[in-house]
Amino acid sequence: MKVLFVTSEAHPLIKTGGLADVCGSLPIALKRQRQDVRVVLPAYPQVVAKAGALKLLAEVTLPDSSQPVRILAGQLPESKVPLYLVDTPELFDRDGGPYGDQHGEDWHDNAERFAHFSQVAVEIAMDRAGLNWQPELVHCHDWQSGLVPALLSLEENRPKTLFTIHNLSYQGLFDHLTFARLGLADSLWHMHGLEFHGMLSMIKGGLIYADWLTTVSPTYAREIQTGEYGYGLEGLLSHRADRLIGILNGIDDEIWNPNRDALIEHPFNAHKLKGKAANKAALQQQFGLTVDADRPLFGLVGRLVEQKGIDLVIENLPWLLARGAQLALLGSGESRFESVLLDFAKDYPDQIGLEIGYNEQLAHRIEASADLFLMPSRFEPCGLNQLYSLRYGTVPVVRSTGGLADSVIHADAESMADGSATGFRFEHADIGGLRWALGEALNLFNSDPKGWQQLVRNGMRQDFSWKSSAHHYIELYHKALS
Ligand code: ADP
Ligand code: GLC
Repeated sequence: MKVLFVTSEAHPLIKTGGLADVCGSLPIALKRQRQDVRVVLPAYPQVVAKAGALKLLAEVTLPDSSQPVRILAGQLPESKVPLYLVDTPELFDRDGGPYGDQHGEDWHDNAERFAHFSQVAVEIAMDRAGLNWQPELVHCHDWQSGLVPALLSLEENRPKTLFTIHNLSYQGLFDHLTFARLGLADSLWHMHGLEFHGMLSMIKGGLIYADWLTTVSPTYAREIQTGEYGYGLEGLLSHRADRLIGILNGIDDEIWNPNRDALIEHPFNAHKLKGKAANKAALQQQFGLTVDADRPLFGLVGRLVEQKGIDLVIENLPWLLARGAQLALLGSGESRFESVLLDFAKDYPDQIGLEIGYNEQLAHRIEASADLFLMPSRFEPCGLNQLYSLRYGTVPVVRSTGGLADSVIHADAESMADGSATGFRFEHADIGGLRWALGEALNLFNSDPKGWQQLVRNGMRQDFSWKSSAHHYIELYHKALS
């Protein structure tokens, strides 16, 4: 099947979060299952720098413009997946991130940037870009590509469209003037179109016009049809429930393999856990924590924002520290969270190791070293770190939501007895909810080393590779075409 992925992130070329992990690994998994998958990305400078050999493949002139847009071609690193880059320097060649500058300010022209990207993707999808290839299906991801299904709905003999929701809270909302300025067809402006309470909603382009919708876990697919998780889009999503499917993300089990991970110091596996203990000692040393195998070490890697329940972690810190726990924390995000964490780290240098920033090697080392992993998210469409944690024998403590609920089995008497337990799960997104789960976890860690080892091994035995999820996508692609 010929499939075009339209995404604004793909690991290892450009990444701000899990979207990149998925769009960097799912195409490769699909290719392995003999699908003709190709990926189109904006030509951000980071992408051009990391993509290896690129050649100028074609130039396409958009309707309403006289300036041709260059399309560069290469391959996703370590793969045979063709990669197309939309090379419009005035929109994409900037110092900073894909959505904003070094200070975290959104680029003022994000609407133009992603409308342009989507328009070029449509030209490729309609085989009007000189690539001599037309996809049968266009697979779009998050609001940055939301206009693609909307624009394609205006075309005859168009490919089928699938839109994947990785995170409903980022919607690409802009004012009505922007809609007018972008020159989008008036027929798209109504409440059953791109309009959302008087604003232009790019994500609605996907939610309304795509032939099929997926999101990244079955539980999140149900949750977004409720007021608590739907951001006002729950009505629309329940209306489309027969076209909305939850498919749990897989992980790249080459990049995240504790036995062969070049970014960690001591490789290990479920039969040889000595290496994990050595990694723990090394990380304690690296962070200047007391080197002690018996102290519970909690890891956390992620965006420091409300979604991730980082405030619940902060509220529970004094309680955890009083029980002798250690923490290895890596992330960046809202400055109010960063500064409280920095204060704590200063006050408890032998118990808290903290790095504010983005650091891939440290992310792998924390996964490899910690005993437990904290993910008390308020909502979590899928979540990848709990999957990496399971693979690395790092017991996840998670809130029961989205993909966390679909991938972690709470350790109670029954699941411990039948060997299905893999972590700790709590319901209520408040200080007491998380504390209850921390109490359960610490109790097992401190009082039952054998039980703990069993729990660690149960998690390491799980298979969250793309094998089965990629297959679900292929089935859906076929359904969409039939
Ligand atoms: P989200 O996409 O909501 O941020 P996910 O759990 O799906 O959450 O994916 C986050 C990805 O980003 C993981 O691969 C994680 O390791 C990585 N990551 C997040 N923050 C950092 C950081 N500060 N340094 C390195 N990697 C990070
Ligand atoms: C989003 C979600 C995260 C998910 C990722 C990849 O960023 O927040 O839960 O794992 O997308 O699908």
